[in-house]
Amino acid sequence: MNLIKANDYNDLSRKAANVISAQVILKPDCVLGLATGSTPIGTYKQLVEWYKKGDIDFSQVTTVNLDEYCGLSPENNQSYRYFMDHNFFLHINIDRKNTNVPNGLADNYEEECTRYDNLIAELGGIDLQLLGIGRNGHIGFNEPDISFEKTTHIVNLDESTIQANARFFSTIDEVPGKAITMGIKSIMQAKKVLLIANGPDKKDIIEKALHGPVTPDVPASILQFHPDLTVVYCFE
Ligand code: F6R
Repeated sequence: MNLIKANDYNDLSRKAANVISAQVILKPDCVLGLATGSTPIGTYKQLVEWYKKGDIDFSQVTTVNLDEYCGLSPENNQSYRYFMDHNFFLHINIDRKNTNVPNGLADNYEEECTRYDNLIAELGGIDLQLLGIGRNGHIGFNEPDISFEKTTHIVNLDESTIQANARFFSTIDEVPGKAITMGIKSIMQAKKVLLIANGPDKKDIIEKALHGPVTPDVPASILQFHPDLTVVYCFE
């Protein structure tokens, strides 16, 4: 495990962007697993800036996002597809057809999960998976008590996650109760994992996840068993 302490959020974003950019430079046709949420926004901004300077080329990159809310269309500004387009994809030279987010409007969610797992397999797996962490230790939408054996699946969101995400919606009732998420098994199969955690409210859970017992009560604790884990954190 490679633990990197950042001085502040900008530093965290730059360090995380450096890890991603090294991956893209070393393997231009790599598969990046991406996350949404507030933490990676600065990382995407930094990558966009370096792209604009001519330092990174995303033309051969493929991306697979971790998760998507059920019932939100790509045009809904709270959907994760919308988030990725507006925070990242629309600002770089990635081929949009190589950007993948689970389909929150699929007619059959079970089939959508299978399609997503098959897609990741056909791509040859994920070279680098970027992750944020929830205050309850969730990664993707894998909430406490999840089975470590799951690949992509449908989840009912925890009350605490609904409350945490309500800040992005006009009312808490608008937060969807279900999501499609890559499972812990999908995440653990990524060749490299980059976990980013920012702010004092992530300190306790990072401590538990990285140094406590490995248990489904803290989904991120499984990352202790990942052979190539980098954690960039700032608790200021
Ligand atoms: C987002 C995701 C979530 C977030 C987590 C932390 O795609 O999978 O697990 O990474 O909820 O969110 P922030 O960064 O907003 O604290």
